[in-house]
Amino acid sequence: FSIDPPVNEPVLEYRPGSDERARIQDELQRLRNTPLEIPLIIGGRPVKTGNLGRCVVPHDHGHQLAVFHQAGEKEVAMAIEAAASAAGKWAAMDWGDRLAIFNRAADLIAGPRRMTLAAATMLGQGKNVYQAEIDAACEIVDFLRFNAFYATEIYRQQPRSGPAEWNHLEYRPLEGFVFAVSPFNFTAIGGNLPSAPAMLGNTVLWKPASSAVFSAWMLMEIFMEAGLPPGVINFIPGPGAQVGHPVLASPQLAGIHFTGSTTVFQNMWKTVAENLGRYRTYPRIVGETGGKDFIFVHPSAETEAVVTALIRGAFEYQGQKCSAASRAYLPESLWPQIREKLTAAMGTIKVGPPENFENFVNAVIDRAAFDTISGYIDHARQHEAAEIIAGGGCDRSSGYFIEPTVILTTDPRFKTMEEEIFGPVLTLYVYADDAFEETLDLCDRTSPYALTGAIFARDRAAVGTARRRLVNAAGNFYINDKPTGAVVGRQPFGGARASGTNDKAGSILNLYRWVSPRTIKENF
Ligand code: ALA
Repeated sequence: FSIDPPVNEPVLEYRPGSDERARIQDELQRLRNTPLEIPLIIGGRPVKTGNLGRCVVPHDHGHQLAVFHQAGEKEVAMAIEAAASAAGKWAAMDWGDRLAIFNRAADLIAGPRRMTLAAATMLGQGKNVYQAEIDAACEIVDFLRFNAFYATEIYRQQPRSGPAEWNHLEYRPLEGFVFAVSPFNFTAIGGNLPSAPAMLGNTVLWKPASSAVFSAWMLMEIFMEAGLPPGVINFIPGPGAQVGHPVLASPQLAGIHFTGSTTVFQNMWKTVAENLGRYRTYPRIVGETGGKDFIFVHPSAETEAVVTALIRGAFEYQGQKCSAASRAYLPESLWPQIREKLTAAMGTIKVGPPENFENFVNAVIDRAAFDTISGYIDHARQHEAAEIIAGGGCDRSSGYFIEPTVILTTDPRFKTMEEEIFGPVLTLYVYADDAFEETLDLCDRTSPYALTGAIFARDRAAVGTARRRLVNAAGNFYINDKPTGAVVGRQPFGGARASGTNDKAGSILNLYRWVSPRTIKENF
């Protein structure tokens, strides 16, 4: 049995007049006008708790898309039970059959369900059509197909046998369930976190972010339609503490697959430490958390490319990618040119709802995000060391809109240079050209994170210096490109330090965490 190496799912362009443009517009209408009640799925069956959460449209927060039932302690216990009952059969299933289910899910998303998942992501998470397409169509399909392929590579890796001895590695799943906790900002990550461990034979409890339940539910339906057996992935949205605590206290917890905030991840480690004596096995803890991602520009850089990277890197999806550029270091000699081009380009950016396909920047996810981000903008406004050179406007009257904002600071340790903002705010610091190397060191020391970063330079020696001096500053390091938009199978994604365990989503390295191999030796 073998699977061919996959190719990346091609991106549809949704040009005016195209068939896909008409289809997604219809789907946006349909989803907006069809009220939905989303249950939990435990052991393959819908469960209703009556404790309801709401899915609203971030750019039109008076509009409710759906209500969803939220899990509590009782439902967590049911889900753990369901995962345990499904585990034996799922682990024993021929792995080719297991992986075929996820390839079928990928085919459904690439084909008949594509518009639904993309439109759900536009409405529920506030993405423009291009951002929805690269996430909820292409990246999720890539995660499923590439991981299925990498799993076959793992299963095929076997030790040598010797004279009169046969050796074998049996790639067992972990002994217990995996807790998948997914974020709001990528539908694809929502799909990857539960499916990657499940492909390797694990059973899963999946808690999607409350602000992304709408698209997560569509994915759950697709997994079931693709033939996922009951109990393999149990869908239990709900408030973090309410769901998280009983899950993490379960003796059967064998793994955590997390993407979200650094604080939540650190609290999970602490809870695991407190419960350590209870577990049957040491839980595998895999997490990707925050970032304070940078663009560093050398005096030899090409300024057009820098400006494009600053705008796309910082403002696509309102800066709510963990990889989004949020601080930049610019050399004094290029600053006048960059300033002129950047402010001219900023003036052309359109902000508004994604249903109007011309809008590049849409609303941020919710009220809490709006308040945090606007708080940082106010801080810059009130501070002498900073000047807002573009944007700065915030309006939450009908949707959570924040203008793409550029702050210029004279203090390289200014609050908005150091702290993760997770919104459309970019802070610039201009350095003296002859301080290139010291400023690289400063960039390395300025934040606790190490997710993504970019160097722009035409001078190869400068590229080499930046690579060396920033060796631990980013898990994904870009040379002459923006620091966002890693593609599965091409740029395995993740970072260390406060950004996570760097287990590289969408790569074989991640999948190794979901197996617990048994070595077998037989004499004959
Ligand atoms: N994988 C996403 C990116 O690189 C987070 O932008």
